[in-house]
Amino acid sequence: MKVLIVGSGYVGLTTGSALAYLGHEITLLDINEDRILRLRDGEVPIHERGLAEVLEESKENIQFTSSWEDFNSNVDIVIIAVGTPNKGNGDVDLTYVEIVAKSVGERLTENSHAVIVNKSTVPIGSAKRVKTIIEHELKKRGIVKNIEVASNPEFLREGEALYDTFYPDRIVIGVETDTAKHRLLSLYQPLLEQTFTAPRSVKRPDGVSLPSIITTSPTSAELIKYAANSFLAMKISFVNEFASLAELVGADITEVAKGIGLDKRIGSRFLQAGIGWGGSCFGKDTAAILYTANQYNYDMPLVQATIKTNYKQRETIIRKLQLELKVLRGATIGVLGLAFKPNTDDLRDAPSLDIIRGLIELGAIVKAFDPIAMTNCRVQNRDLDVQYAQSAQELFEGCDGVVLITEWEEFLHLPYSKLAKRMKKKLIIDGRNVLDKEALRKSGIIYRGIGRGETG
Ligand code: UDX
Ligand code: UDX
Repeated sequence: MKVLIVGSGYVGLTTGSALAYLGHEITLLDINEDRILRLRDGEVPIHERGLAEVLEESKENIQFTSSWEDFNSNVDIVIIAVGTPNKGNGDVDLTYVEIVAKSVGERLTENSHAVIVNKSTVPIGSAKRVKTIIEHELKKRGIVKNIEVASNPEFLREGEALYDTFYPDRIVIGVETDTAKHRLLSLYQPLLEQTFTAPRSVKRPDGVSLPSIITTSPTSAELIKYAANSFLAMKISFVNEFASLAELVGADITEVAKGIGLDKRIGSRFLQAGIGWGGSCFGKDTAAILYTANQYNYDMPLVQATIKTNYKQRETIIRKLQLELKVLRGATIGVLGLAFKPNTDDLRDAPSLDIIRGLIELGAIVKAFDPIAMTNCRVQNRDLDVQYAQSAQELFEGCDGVVLITEWEEFLHLPYSKLAKRMKKKLIIDGRNVLDKEALRKSGIIYRGIGRGETG
């Protein structure tokens, strides 16, 4: 199938490379010329596991362009994957989606049969909006035509976006007609049947089950995306709420999470207590669904509490440091990890940034180390008065306390007892509950996790 994907962020680029790998003929269009030139040169502009290899293996099937002049009106599917940022009040900025819709509308012809697909996370009703814009543009040129716009949300985790594309739990297609439904079923057929040879860099897990296909109306598909992200965010906030109670009553939340997670009705994933969620989606999507609900004068107290609990977790870290060190003014605090989660250099809504700003406001000197997100942090936060360490080892030097914020694999195996000897005070706050608290305590370290049996 001939597919045009607009937007080469982590969603557009991973979707495009996976579909090219499956044998479709992909054109990836992005208005960012620099990004397109780099992609043409074989550079991979984002940090995504297996992406370089999959792009290399499928390069025959994918071309990159920054010009709408290259639009082929015979295309079978147009996938919209441009950014949909938050306006700041929870509302979603649809400008980019609308520009794409207009550009498509200006170029489709009488004979075009393209199905337009919204993959970006967009507010309820956006499929209709895109359809209206395209049909309006066509009408301006005297073409009266019914355009099919489907909603096909992605559920990709950054860093694991290719794995989630090749081996999804389910594929949701929100369509109004059988034509659109069958077009999307053909697009995803190799995934639905798992008939493709797995890429070497993104191996098929043993015993993977075939993904379910859920066919809905476009509106339900749009709501599914928001409900999924709100639920996952709520699950994390739920365990974090219990983590604070666990500290008060003297329980360990990691044991509690295991104890409830093994109940299949609950499930063990997304029950890791810590400093809470960040990233480009959970914050944006929970705020957006509240904004939508508000337009209907409808309250969503669960989603509201999910957000409130999440951002309180970031303050918890500072409170823990204050409890141990009393005065933070003049204290040196080491921040281990900046990215909002491991295996990405993404800093969008990263807890690290709020925590660092809070510490600086209280007069602390902040040092930081992250294996890959430091460059982004320097470029995106020029005002941030942070000393960047060359290594995790160097970070510990002279610190009054070190906070583990991102659970990078390499941080799990650091020689903590040796490193603590370089500190002024052997205090480690484990913001992700991933360290061996007994082993650390045995070596004389003051260990504080989140909800692990003691207040503070
Ligand atoms: C995606 C989804 O689009 C978003 O809705 C979801 O909530 C998160 O994931 P992402 O892939 O992270 O966003 O977006 P981003 O990295 O911002 O990339 C979007 C790309 O679209 C950029 O490269 C930008 O240059 C491009 N773009 C934007 C266009 O090509 N045309 C435009 O008009 C606007
Ligand atoms: C998320 C969704 O998982 C994905 O389906 C959606 O399309 C985009 O948003 P992503 O933001 O890439 O993906 O990361 P994810 O792995 O879901 O983690 C989100 C945040 O939650 C991270 O900050 C992570 O550290 C945190 N988290 C996750 C927890 O605090 N505890 C957990 O148990 C799991």
